[in-house]
Amino acid sequence: MLTTFPEMFGATPPAALGVSIPGRAMAKGLVEVHATDIRAFAANRHAKTDDRPFGGGPGMVMMCQPVFDAVAAVEAMDGREATRILLTPQGVPLSQALVESLATRPRLLMIAGHYEGLDERVIERLRPMEISIGDYVLSGGELAAMVLIDAIVRLIPGALGDEDSSASDSFGVLGAKGERLLDCPHYTRPRVWEGMEVPEVLLSGDHGAIAAWRQEKMRERTLERRPDLLGGEGKK
Ligand code: 6GU
Repeated sequence: MLTTFPEMFGATPPAALGVSIPGRAMAKGLVEVHATDIRAFAANRHAKTDDRPFGGGPGMVMMCQPVFDAVAAVEAMDGREATRILLTPQGVPLSQALVESLATRPRLLMIAGHYEGLDERVIERLRPMEISIGDYVLSGGELAAMVLIDAIVRLIPGALGDEDSSASDSFGVLGAKGERLLDCPHYTRPRVWEGMEVPEVLLSGDHGAIAAWRQEKMRERTLERRPDLLGGEGKK
């Protein structure tokens, strides 16, 4: 992780990734996250990493040299080839399919953009994958990187307690035509809460009927909430 705000990743592992499934995966040594301060590579007296945009306008642009040298230094620390990723609202939207593909890579090098982003020339030189986590603006790429790390880590074999459970998450299940479906509703005890009952089929012990009910609910929900996932018209 390359950032101008390494304190967001201050502890090892960072607090947000230190609990639940990512926390367990890190404790087991299935994955490591390191944060490197881009500022440490700034070859100017004030350790400046950004400057005003040519052509004028508001905001600051991250300079080529500190970013490029930080990438070179971090890549040289490890013999495994790194997949370079730039977190930016201009990137391709993150999807579960993309998460699955990234989860197979031995090493990811993520760069968090800030302000108005990076000088375009260092992007051209580094040719990172550019990834966005959605159509809204964050103050920087760090939280987006943590989202990406969480989504990837849960797919690493051994990260989940029950090896099957990632296949049954939303987006993990492939419908008959390979579509990704939203998850079905879930229930736990008590059987009746505030007069509301658990669907009878889930108490039947009939595993075939339960699987069919869940499939149907997944399809129903997806059709109602995310018709775009089934090839229909989605909200834009
Ligand atoms: Cl990756 N970065 C920033 N700054 N904002 C975002 C984003 C990334 N994805 C959605 N919004």
